Amino acid sequence: MSQLIGHQIQESTEIQKTISDLVGSVQKLNAQLTGIKPIHPEHAESGKREIEQAGKIRGRPLHFNYVGSGAGHGAYVELEDGSVKLDLINGIGIHLMGHSHPKIMAAAIRGALVDVVNQGNLQPNREYSRFLEKIVGLAGKRSRLKYGWLATCGTMANESALKICRQKKTPARMVLSFKNAFAGRSTMMAELTDNPAYKQGLPEYHEMLRLPFYDKRDPQSIEKTLTQMKEHVAKHEGNISCFVFEPMLGEGGYQAAPREFFLPLLEFCKEKQIPVWADEVQTFTRTGELFAFETLDIGNYIDVCTVAKTAQVGCTLYTEEFNPKPGLIAGTFSGTSAALSVGIETLEILTKEGYLGKNGRIMDIHHKFIGMLNELNETTCKGKLQDAGGLGLMVAVTPFDGKKEQVDVLLKKLFDKGLIAFSCGKDPVRVRFLIPAIIKDSDIQVAKSLLENAILEGV
Ligand SMILES: Cc1ncc(COP(=O)(O)O)c(C=O)c1O
Repeated sequence: MSQLIGHQIQESTEIQKTISDLVGSVQKLNAQLTGIKPIHPEHAESGKREIEQAGKIRGRPLHFNYVGSGAGHGAYVELEDGSVKLDLINGIGIHLMGHSHPKIMAAAIRGALVDVVNQGNLQPNREYSRFLEKIVGLAGKRSRLKYGWLATCGTMANESALKICRQKKTPARMVLSFKNAFAGRSTMMAELTDNPAYKQGLPEYHEMLRLPFYDKRDPQSIEKTLTQMKEHVAKHEGNISCFVFEPMLGEGGYQAAPREFFLPLLEFCKEKQIPVWADEVQTFTRTGELFAFETLDIGNYIDVCTVAKTAQVGCTLYTEEFNPKPGLIAGTFSGTSAALSVGIETLEILTKEGYLGKNGRIMDIHHKFIGMLNELNETTCKGKLQDAGGLGLMVAVTPFDGKKEQVDVLLKKLFDKGLIAFSCGKDPVRVRFLIPAIIKDSDIQVAKSLLENAILEGV
């Protein structure tokens, strides 16, 4: 049988060799980036111009003095001002494999060689179905999730999820969700998000029913949340479209909750036939298993699950019963060919190279990173880096008294010293790290010394 030209392009040994030579040449240059470097005097001026211009043209200065040069190596990234930083935030969690991972680069090039840059839901290419096959297969191992629909980001995946739940429970409109939840930036996801700073001037639609998240300091926490859920349901019986939750509050402060917290809530939803939607946009691939619902062993309760970020595209996963009627979810874009190809490769690497499971590299990194923060808190930075915790590659710590002004100063200081981190939570505000899965133990020691220096200088 003759081979399709599209398949010949992907499988040609000549093209594969060209890709590997190309990646090899780029890697040779990137390999020079082995550690942090300060701003280079020769690039200081032009770098500053780039940063100022980016801020000027969007009407708001950049949060950090960060414009990437296009080079990076593992956990390190080179900026336009010639500095090299240890990147522990990775585009708020997109670059799970760090910067310029050779397999990720090769996958992106393979994707770039297909006939179209963007794929769509009407005319998909093979990457579309390969990605969905893979993620649905993996999701279905420990849940009833059976189908997936692509979107371009987490917000749009969440929009599809909410529509699916609402259609299933029509005409119900109310949504059970946690205090301090974050769900994205569309009108509806801003409503679902519990942060007034993200919706200044927007009308309230009064469709959210809030529940307190787990509080490890309160022995009554589980009971209180369940009672609140029961009260909401009693008051709005028949008008609840779903219960949506982040398995660990992301923007809300990186406070993890045990399985025992979720179980009674999920059992109650099951009893009342309230759809359960897990927003795993931030937790996907990070908690030691692919899905946090696996880490928490609650997969059987999940009706709908959303992912994005490390997947490189948004995706809404759902069970047989939640497959929506035609017309409800669609959209022009389903992701770029390169993004889909990289999404497939990321799942391949994660499942085949020892990253997952209790003894996998992700949990190894988690323990080492938390250990490092606790050690600082007990020794040179006594009491100034408290409550280190999180799940897998999502780690946060409360510096000083957890005041916003202190954390902002600390984060800028860390950035200037060469460590990129970010904040989360409101009270307290915490420093968070979205650690790349390829970080080396020696990089964790670099982070330690930068943190120690910055904390000892004070704010
Ligand atoms: C839990 C959660 N849901 C949804 C989103 C929105 O995803 P995106 O920014 O890709 O639209 C985010 C982004 O941070 C998130 O953390």
